[in-house]
Amino acid sequence: MYRQSFAQLCAGTVETVLADLGSPGSGPFLDAGCGTGNVSRRAAEAGWSVTAVDAAEQMLAEAQTSCAGLPVRWVRGALPRLGFASGVFEAVVANFVINCVSDPRAAVRELARVVRPGGVVALTVWVSGRTAQSALMMEALQAAKVVPERGGGLPAGRDFERTVPGLIGLTRQAGLEPVRSRELAWDWVVSWEDWWTGIAGGVGSTGQAYLAQDPPTRERVYRHLRSRVEESEADGMLRLPSVAAYVLARSSPLRQSGRRHRGHRVDR
Ligand SMILES: C[S@@+](CC[C@H](N)C(=O)[O-])C[C@H]1O[C@@H](n2cnc3c(N)ncnc32)[C@H](O)[C@@H]1O
Repeated sequence: MYRQSFAQLCAGTVETVLADLGSPGSGPFLDAGCGTGNVSRRAAEAGWSVTAVDAAEQMLAEAQTSCAGLPVRWVRGALPRLGFASGVFEAVVANFVINCVSDPRAAVRELARVVRPGGVVALTVWVSGRTAQSALMMEALQAAKVVPERGGGLPAGRDFERTVPGLIGLTRQAGLEPVRSRELAWDWVVSWEDWWTGIAGGVGSTGQAYLAQDPPTRERVYRHLRSRVEESEADGMLRLPSVAAYVLARSSPLRQSGRRHRGHRVDR
């Protein structure tokens, strides 16, 4: 259900990020938090020598299916300790991953450690409160007389501002120098069936907010969303405006590298 819903949303930034890295690609490339393989597939097709890492076994299995036939190295591992030697990757991408981890600063430091001196790290995160699907869910919960909880945030001091300046701050704290930064905006075009499958399956914060309700409230939320969506549907497809913060940052060419790192890593 993740593959047919949220994974399609995450794919919206991939072409921009890979174009900024240069195509055809060359050299070792890390897809950190590969999910179902959106980035790995396109990077391998573009010529990069891809290593894909994810904390979730099931995601790796899905990514292997979607990248079948492409020469991708699959590794189970979790930020902030990936277990690779320092400075081994030419390019590192974490597409909608830093917004999922429990210690974003430590995670970006780890990505900065494994990129080679002079290499690049590309990061995207959701901009707080700016995706149409979260706005629709808020509206539906309010219509169902639910006061949405603001749970799920990180403790103060661990969290960061989910904006372009917030992401720039994270990269600078990790010793990287931002070279490109902006919001990326696109319409997520998805069928009602695929969208609803993800929400009813508890995918993402929108799905979690739905599943947190009791059955009568879920029914009211469903009805509200269905009727709202019918108003805007064209050809059975929804268009959900989506916004991400994006930063491409470079590691200093003068950085010391070569230190080995002790961590946990399982090649699959
Ligand atoms: C929103 S998905 C994005 C997937 C993919 N990057 C894409 O663009 O489609 C986030 C992914 O990060 C993975 N993830 C979450 N926490 C992680 C961690 N600490 N280390 C590595 N991967 C993690 C999840 O398992 C999930 O596959």
